[in-house]
Amino acid sequence: MIQSSEKTMLRALAGETLTRPPFWLMRQAGRYLAEYREVRKSAKNFLNFCHSPDLAVEVTLQPLRRYHMDAAILFSDILVIPDALGQKVQFLEGEGPVLDPIRSVAELEQLDLERLHGHMAPVYETVGRLSREIPETTALIGFAGAPWTVATYMVEGRGSKDYPVTRSWAYGDPEGFAKLIDLLVEATGRYLIEQVKNGAEIIQIFDSWAGVLPPAEFRRWVIDPTIKLVETLKAACPGVPIIGFPRGAGMMYPDFVRETNVDGVSLDSTIPVTWAADNIQPHCTVQGNLDNMLLVAGGEAMERELNTILDVLGQGPFIFNLGHGIVPQTPPEHVARVAEIIQQRG
Ligand code: CP3
Repeated sequence: MIQSSEKTMLRALAGETLTRPPFWLMRQAGRYLAEYREVRKSAKNFLNFCHSPDLAVEVTLQPLRRYHMDAAILFSDILVIPDALGQKVQFLEGEGPVLDPIRSVAELEQLDLERLHGHMAPVYETVGRLSREIPETTALIGFAGAPWTVATYMVEGRGSKDYPVTRSWAYGDPEGFAKLIDLLVEATGRYLIEQVKNGAEIIQIFDSWAGVLPPAEFRRWVIDPTIKLVETLKAACPGVPIIGFPRGAGMMYPDFVRETNVDGVSLDSTIPVTWAADNIQPHCTVQGNLDNMLLVAGGEAMERELNTILDVLGQGPFIFNLGHGIVPQTPPEHVARVAEIIQQRG
C-alpha cells in the first residue's frame, strides 16, 4: 500500500519544502473543459448534478486525466448547505445562484439541521467512491464554504458585489446574525466531518467574500467561525490538514493564520509573493496565487508570473494554485502549459 507520505499534497501541508511543489487549481472541474460541458448536459439542474455520484465522480476525475494534478477536489458547491437545510436554492442559466433570501431570525428558524446528513448522502457517496478511484499519489480534497460567505448568499439571495443586506444585518442586529453564523458553523462542521469519514484527506474552507469586512467584523464573522470549525474538525478527525481561503483578507492574512490554526492558507492574487514568503510562510503552508486572468491570457506574461511564484514560494512549504477559480473562457492548453512547467521542475 502507498504511504500517505507519498502524496506530495500531504507532505507540503505537513510543512515540508518540496523540489517540485504539488499543484491543483480551484474550479479545475468546470465549463472550460468540453468533456465537463458534455456531462453537465445529462443533469436536470446544477444541484441535481452535485447530488449524482456517477456524474460528480466523473467530472472530478476529468482534469486529472488531462493534467495529473496532485489533488482532486470533490465536485460539489458551497451552496449545497443552505439547500440541505431547507432554503430554496436554484442555479439559473446565465444568472448564477438564486435563493429565497433569509433576513430575520424568524425565517432562520424555519431551517432544519436534522435534514443535513440525509440530504447530503449522495455527496458522501461521491467522496467515498473518489477516495477509492483516484490515483494513489493524488490527495482528495473535501470542502465547504465558510459561514460568512455562505451567509452572504443566504441573506442577499444571489451573488452581490458588496453585500449590503448581510452587512447591515450584521451591524444592526449582531446577536440575530450570530444565530445564522452559529447554525452554519454547526452544519458545516458536521458536513466536513462526514466528508473526512468517507475519505476526504484534506479540507479547504472557501471564504470567497471575506475581503469585504472591516477588521473588527473580519474577526467576528471570518476568524471566529473558522476557529470553531477548525477546532471541531481537528477534535473529530485528528491529523486532517485544513486549508483556509479568506479571499481578499489583505493585511488580515497573518492574523487569520495565527488565530485559526489552519495548516495551509490560500492566497489571492493581490498578495505579493515576497511578502507572503516573509510573513505567512514561516507560520503555515501557502497555496496560490496566479491570477486566473493570466491563465486566460497565457503566453509569456503567464509564464513569467508562474515562474516568479514558483521561485519565491517554492523556497518553503508551498502548493501551487490560482488566486481564484478557473473561469469558463480559459483555454485548456494554457492549463496544460502551467502543468508542464510545474512538472518539469521535479
Ligand atoms: O472543481 C472544483 O473546484 C470543485 C467544485 C466547485 C464548484 N464550486 C463547482 C461549480 C467548488 C469548490 C465551488 C466553490 C464555490 N461555489 C465558491 C467558492 C469559490 C469561489 O469561486 O469563490 C462559490 C462562491 C460558489 C458559488 C457558486 N457556484 C456560484 C457563484 C456559481 C455561479 C457562477 C458560475 O461560475 O457559474 C456556482 C456554480 C458552479 N459551481 C459551477 C461549477 C463548476 C458552474 C455551474 C455549471 O456548470 O452550470
